[in-house]
Amino acid sequence: MSEPEQLNNRIAVVTGATAGIGRATSLALASQGASVVVNGRRGDRLDALVAEIESAGGRAFAVTGNACEQSVIDAMLDGAKSAFGREADLVVINAGRGLGGSIMTSDPDQWDSIFEINVMAAARMLRSAGQRLVGQCPESDPVAKPRDIVVLGSNVGRHISPFSSVYGSSKFAVGALAEATRRELGPKGVRVTLIAPGIVLSEFQEVAGYTDELVDGFKEKFEPLLEPEDIARMISFVVTQPAGVHACDIVIRSTRQDYP
Ligand SMILES: NC(=O)c1ccc[n+]([C@@H]2O[C@H](COP(=O)([O-])OP(=O)(O)OC[C@H]3O[C@@H](n4cnc5c(N)ncnc54)[C@H](OP(=O)(O)O)[C@@H]3O)[C@@H](O)[C@H]2O)c1
Repeated sequence: MSEPEQLNNRIAVVTGATAGIGRATSLALASQGASVVVNGRRGDRLDALVAEIESAGGRAFAVTGNACEQSVIDAMLDGAKSAFGREADLVVINAGRGLGGSIMTSDPDQWDSIFEINVMAAARMLRSAGQRLVGQCPESDPVAKPRDIVVLGSNVGRHISPFSSVYGSSKFAVGALAEATRRELGPKGVRVTLIAPGIVLSEFQEVAGYTDELVDGFKEKFEPLLEPEDIARMISFVVTQPAGVHACDIVIRSTRQDYP
């Protein structure tokens, strides 16, 4: 039986690494030996993250900028090669944001930006990373080594509710993009994985405009809620499986979260 892969020889890119799940995932991957390109718009936070990874003996490189922009996507993928000497083989498409409210009650001025980061930016990175990762796979043995793209969907991308109509729809869409890309690239040797978390305590709730009462209600009903490290651990699990094994579609909730 093959042993699970560790990450010593992996070059990773993580979008949205200045907070929450992306930050925790960057730290987790680096602690397992991966060299990590980290991205986000807040450069001071990225610099602190790079320093934290390096002080623990790891390797990291910051690309500050908006993950919606193709030039920033290219800078992340080019940065992997220039900083670490090889193309990335593990890309985590995590940058995103929520928006509370329904079609009737949410702010329509924010709808475009939700779809731009949660869907369009993900599609651009799927295409750019997918092209580069497929290019690394030998036709003679496509799964000689693991190559991964991990996409953050959401539990509310499966169980659409009026509480988060627009956000949930954007995550439904990115789930479709991930599955379509899995079908296209899996046979060529690239694993494309959808991770669909339930409620995770992070900056997400504030950015999405959730009230304190709403968050307190989640805590009361579902505690202990998930922490970003719980999602990072699941991502590590997926990408350390042998190259021919793919846990491709994972929902992760706190045990007491019944719905959504
Ligand atoms: N928390 C949850 O309950 C939950 C549940 C299901 C799915 N998710 C998904 O998980 C992912 C991470 O969420 P989180 O909980 O970690 O949220 P978070 O704590 O708010 O972190 C979001 C990260 O995305 C970055 N980001 C946002 N827009 C960006 C852009 N245009 N360009 C580059 N970076 C950008 C932010 O960095 P900057 O502001 O510095 O750019 C930040 O690092 C998202 O896709 C979210 O939809 C979250």
